[in-house]
Amino acid sequence: MIIEAQKQLEKIGVYPDVVIGCAGGGSNFAGISLPFARDKIHGKKITIIAAEPASCPTITRAPFAYDFGDLAMTTPLLPMYTLGHDFVPPPIHAGGLRYHGMAPIVSHLVKEGVVEGRAYQQLDTFDAGIKWARSEGFIPAPETNHAIAAVVEEALRAKEEGKEKVILFNWSGHGLVDLASYDSYLSGKLTNYELPEEDIRRALKVVEKYPKP
Ligand SMILES: Cc1ncc(COP(=O)(O)O)c(C=O)c1O
Repeated sequence: MIIEAQKQLEKIGVYPDVVIGCAGGGSNFAGISLPFARDKIHGKKITIIAAEPASCPTITRAPFAYDFGDLAMTTPLLPMYTLGHDFVPPPIHAGGLRYHGMAPIVSHLVKEGVVEGRAYQQLDTFDAGIKWARSEGFIPAPETNHAIAAVVEEALRAKEEGKEKVILFNWSGHGLVDLASYDSYLSGKLTNYELPEEDIRRALKVVEKYPKP
């Protein structure tokens, strides 16, 4: 995917102003964005956005620390944004992207200001997904809806500024196995949820015994 997106855009003679992916563990986001991150490091003007849930806000609110990549603590300690390796998102959260940490390479790019993290509330992500389904005719995964919410936000911003922008994003998957979540959304059973500060304090406690990056 990495080179493919760049090559496809080259073929039609455009370069993105904005690159967006949703971020759970960071793999699909890294797939779409890393070549553009390299260009940005070499001077290109480009906005790169990693979209995550407000109820599992790893890169937007969690500490940057050494932590385990898994609950069983079998990985080496990794430097990354982490909500604590034993973090479990609240049951009201229906949008996936539940991983407690973020890939070290993505974490590093956020820390260095190459990548910007943005957190979205779940009602906004499902709203974006429904907009997509109505206009494109197929259903995105709830994870993908986070990226679409960022696309909608950026497109509206461009409109407000009177600028034409090329927005590239990774449509990471379909939502055909997630119809129960759409049903919960459409029948009003979902609510927004901002992770409380005490969960961030808890994350700090989990990582305090490990070395500092
Ligand atoms: C459709 C879809 N998109 C994105 C993701 C996010 O994962 P990652 O950030 O590891 O690419 C997932 C993970 O379950 C997924 O199912």
